[in-house]
Amino acid sequence: METQNTLTPPPATADMSFRQLVNERRSVRSFLPERIPSDVMQDCFDMAILAPSVSNLQPWQFYWVKSDKNREEMRDLCMRQEAANTAAEFVVCVGRTGLWRKYAKLIIQQMEEAQLDLPKPFDIYYHKIVPISYTLGPLSILGYLREFLFWAIRVFRPMSHTPKNRSEMRAWAIKSTSLACQNFMLALRAHGYDTCALDGFDPTRIKRMLKLPRDAVIVMVITAGKRAPDDVRFGPRLRLGRENFVFEA
Ligand SMILES: Cc1cc2nc3c(=O)[nH]c(=O)nc-3n(C[C@H](O)[C@H](O)[C@H](O)COP(=O)(O)O)c2cc1C
Repeated sequence: METQNTLTPPPATADMSFRQLVNERRSVRSFLPERIPSDVMQDCFDMAILAPSVSNLQPWQFYWVKSDKNREEMRDLCMRQEAANTAAEFVVCVGRTGLWRKYAKLIIQQMEEAQLDLPKPFDIYYHKIVPISYTLGPLSILGYLREFLFWAIRVFRPMSHTPKNRSEMRAWAIKSTSLACQNFMLALRAHGYDTCALDGFDPTRIKRMLKLPRDAVIVMVITAGKRAPDDVRFGPRLRLGRENFVFEA
């Protein structure tokens, strides 16, 4: 079993084999105080937003908490846990449920500006299917009506699932944003930095601090920095056997 202290030293470049990268990413809870250079962070954000997303609607946002005052407050709002106490950087990873309509329009606009000859299904997808799939209406009435209609269709033929209420829209945004978070953590590792994803935080207070809109859901906070040599407290990587997780059908 691999332990954190037997890991090879982090490389100075972002060029690493995929296998090595995945193996080296560990949740680190003790960081050195040095900050991560802005160009490295920006590169990692660029890698994050290359993640796939449902309907390519890219519901993620990343709030890089930079000022000393806000970083200090984040330590409190992440419950003063180890990975927050020493963190050099805090990134609040947010999923947005209210931007899909705007982004569907922007995607069409971008395609038109690039003078790409839009295939008809693509056009129909963003003009018609996307609004049909995600419009909820007041009190999610349209979402529940759609669910009823799809349920009836499903009796006769396969029919996909779309979010029927705000809670399912949140799950919709969290799915894609989580993939971007993983890209971000792997990208930082490829630059020789480490991360810890956090679920232990006060979402209400962080939303207030960042003045996030109502449709924002905090998916996770990622703390990051250079791994401290004493980061051995959490021990070896532990995974249950593949037979628990992988099935053939
Ligand atoms: C969404 C998410 C939330 C997590 N929350 C915390 C947390 O609040 N505190 C913490 O110390 N680790 C947290 N972790 C890290 C996990 O404990 C860690 O990924 C797991 O133990 C496996 O270790 P590894 O990442 O080094 O492979 C979180 C991980 C994820 C993906």
